[in-house]
Amino acid sequence: MNIILLGPPGAGKGTQAARLELTRGMVQLSTGDMLRAAVAQATPVGLKAKAVMEAGELVSDAIVSALIGERLDSIGSNGAIFDGYPRTRPQAEALDLLLGERGRTLDYVIELEVDEEALVERITGRFSCASCGAPYHDQYKLPQVEGTCDVCGSHEFKRRPDDNEQTVRTRLAEYRAKTAPILPYYEERGLVRRVDGMASVEEVAAEIDAILDS
Ligand code: AP5
Ligand code: ZN
Repeated sequence: MNIILLGPPGAGKGTQAARLELTRGMVQLSTGDMLRAAVAQATPVGLKAKAVMEAGELVSDAIVSALIGERLDSIGSNGAIFDGYPRTRPQAEALDLLLGERGRTLDYVIELEVDEEALVERITGRFSCASCGAPYHDQYKLPQVEGTCDVCGSHEFKRRPDDNEQTVRTRLAEYRAKTAPILPYYEERGLVRRVDGMASVEEVAAEIDAILDS
């Protein structure tokens, strides 16, 4: 099964994709993670993408579709979760081509519906373990022992450079202008399912499971 998780920044795409990877053996394909890895390694793609990401704008369609294309052959039989891709109409069309070339199809596009003000709070408060990547939040999930990762015991934490309020507002505007308009492309094909992204992580997970098992 191949699914797209669609929703604005902070909607919970990454959280749910990581869970589906664990519970269903699907492969999470996050263009945001791929781009952050490219920036960290200072590859040619990373050097191009860094300033665009820090401004909260979208990286070019050609770059992200190439990144996805490179990874598609490594998906196993349990399929993929596209997290943060596609984000524009040309990316949606590119994904159809890339899947078609491999004899694969899309099963669902799951839209996480959320309230924008809550998203700003969710995003500006989040941080993660610098060593194992475990996610934390200033308000909702602090480490049990202050300054120590619950999972690996590391004392180093990091925040994404694009998680400040100004950049989050630009990311939300980009979503409204360029990404939300791709929904009709999938609605015409009957692929879209909507989930209340303001519910708890567990409730959102249960709703997604119900869709995938239907
Ligand atoms: P990307 O990495 O994709 O970021 P994003 O879409 O802005 O999404 P986030 O990772 O911020 O949020 P999320 O929906 O995954 O939420 P999460 O689960 O973390 O993209 C970053 C940048 O890369 C873009 O701005 C762009 O420049 C570039 N880029 C990437 N892909 C691109 C593409 N295809 N084309 C062009 N450019 C591209 O949750 C957020 C927080 O909320 C966490 O703290 C979490 O613990 C918490 N949380 C999650 N669910 C819940 C819940 N139900 N209740 C309470 N808290 C919750
Ligand atoms: Zn850790």
